[in-house]
Amino acid sequence: MEVVVRSDADAAARLVARLVAARVRAKPDLVLGLATGRTMERVYDHLAAMHRNAGLDFSQCRTFNLDEYIGLPADDEHSYRHYMDCHLFSRVNIAPANAKIPDGMAADLRAEAVRYERLIGEAGGIDLQLLGIGEAGHIGFNEPLSALMSRTREKALTPVTRQQNAAMFGGDADRVPTRALTMGVGTILEARELILLATGRAKAAILARAVEGPITAMISASALQLHPNCKVVVDEEAAGELTRREYYDWVFRNEPEWREYQG
Ligand code: GLP
Repeated sequence: MEVVVRSDADAAARLVARLVAARVRAKPDLVLGLATGRTMERVYDHLAAMHRNAGLDFSQCRTFNLDEYIGLPADDEHSYRHYMDCHLFSRVNIAPANAKIPDGMAADLRAEAVRYERLIGEAGGIDLQLLGIGEAGHIGFNEPLSALMSRTREKALTPVTRQQNAAMFGGDADRVPTRALTMGVGTILEARELILLATGRAKAAILARAVEGPITAMISASALQLHPNCKVVVDEEAAGELTRREYYDWVFRNEPEWREYQG
């Protein structure tokens, strides 16, 4: 794992967007795992700008989102399908048929989970998976006690998560669905590269536990420590409780892979 600290939320998001763009340019038919949440909005803003101004071409990319609420139709303004349409899909040239999100309205959710895993497999697996982190330490919607080998499945949301996401539901946590379909921790760990983005003071404590603490199913993001190619990009605020900052900064300044991202 490598940790990169940038000055503010926009610089952190810009770095993540540049990494995504580099992967898309290197492999135009990249299989890209996408995440939702407020943190990712800036990344999608930067990717949309790169598409518009620099011709970044997503026409051959296939995408898989991490998760979706159960019980919200795709056109519900709170669904993750709607979020993705607004923040990314309507702004770049990803072919609609290539943009997959679990169907939280499926009559048979277990079958939908199996189908989703099959689609990922048929695409050849995920090349690069973007991740945020919830205040309960989740990646996707892998709430505390999610098995580290879990696959796509239904998951009950914790009160902390529903509270955290209430802002998107008019501030009312009771309106946040109680369950979601989410890729499992095991599904996520199979992606060939992972990039987690965390910004803001509210993420500092959980980020430090996920990155520097013990691996535990109580904090599904801690499982990223098992992955051989994982980058964690944070702003100064989210980095506030990391203890090995000097080392992380040294690696960023000195390792050749980061040279083109110094600016
Ligand atoms: C939701 C998503 C997560 C995301 C988290 C962080 O719970 N299911 O994938 O990481 O939100 O959200 P935010 O970026 O709004 O803090």
